[in-house]
Amino acid sequence: MDPLLAVNNIEVIYHNVILVLKGMSLNVEEGQIVTILGNNGAGKTTTLKAISGLLKSEDGEVTDGQIQFQGKRIDKKYPEEIVRMGIFQVMEGRRVFEDLTVEENLIAGGHTNKSRTKMKQDMGIVYDYFPRLKDRKNILAGYVSGGEQQMLVIGRGLMSTPELMLLDEPSMGLSPLLVSEIFRIIQRINKDEGVSILLVEQNARLALSIAEHGYVMENGRIVLDDTVDKLKENADVKEFYLGLTEVGKKKSYRDVKHYKRRKRWLT
Ligand SMILES: Nc1ncnc2c1ncn2[C@@H]1O[C@H](COP(=O)(O)OP(=O)(O)O)[C@@H](O)[C@H]1O
Ligand SMILES: [Mg+2]
Repeated sequence: MDPLLAVNNIEVIYHNVILVLKGMSLNVEEGQIVTILGNNGAGKTTTLKAISGLLKSEDGEVTDGQIQFQGKRIDKKYPEEIVRMGIFQVMEGRRVFEDLTVEENLIAGGHTNKSRTKMKQDMGIVYDYFPRLKDRKNILAGYVSGGEQQMLVIGRGLMSTPELMLLDEPSMGLSPLLVSEIFRIIQRINKDEGVSILLVEQNARLALSIAEHGYVMENGRIVLDDTVDKLKENADVKEFYLGLTEVGKKKSYRDVKHYKRRKRWLT
C-alpha cells in the first residue's frame, strides 16, 4: 500500500538560484506521527512548504523529484487545492488574524463551502480539545496569550478536517507547562481524530517523546531515518540533538562515517 505521504527525492530552489533541498525524501504512513529533526537552516520549513504548496508564494519551486499524497501527485498543485485534499500546515510563529476574534479565526479555517451545521460541529470538536479557546472565543486573537494563539492555529487547522497536519515548531517560545499541554493535545488529535502528523521541532526530546518515526535532516538532505526507539539510542542523535555529550566536542554529521543513509526511494 502507498504511504499517506511520500516525498521522493525532491529538489527545491528559491528565486531560481538558491538550491535548498538536494534530494529530500520522507514518508508518512497513515496514522503516524513523524518528526523531522535538524539544525537551523537545514531545510525543515522548506520541506513542509513544499508539501503544502506554500513555497510558491515565496518564489520557491520543486524542480526535481515528486510528492505524492494518497497516491496522487501534489507537487504542482496550489495550496488551496492541497488543503482541500486534506493537508494543513500550521506555520511557524503562530500566525493568527489578530483583528478577528478567536471564533472568527476558527471560521476562517473551515472550508468556505461548509454548511453551518458542519461548521458548528467542527467548532465543537476544536473547543473540546481546547476549552481555553471557547472561554476566549469573543476576544480578538491579537490579545490572547502566545500559548492560546498556538492552540488557535492548530484549532484552525482542525477546522479544515485534515488527514495530515504539518506542524512547524509548535513549542517555540512557550513555557514548558504550555508546551506539554499542547503536545498532549497533538497526541489526542492523532489518536482520536486519526490525523497523521508531520512534526518539525527544535526540541528533539519532546518530538521523540510523541513520534513513532523520525528523520534527521542536514543541509537539505535526510542523513538519518529510523524508528524513534532506535533514534533515541543512536549515539549521534544523543550527541547532536539530545545534548548527551562531552562538553566542547563538536563535529558535523558529515564527519561521521558509519551513518546509515537508507535511500528507500532507490529500491
Ligand atoms: N524565501 C526564501 N528565499 C531564499 N532562501 C530561503 C527562503 N526561505 C528559506 N531560505 C533558505 O533556505 C535554507 C533552509 O531554510 P529553512 O527551510 O527555513 O530551514 P529550517 O526550517 O530547517 O531552519 C536556509 O538557508 C534559508 O536561508
Ligand atoms: Mg524552520
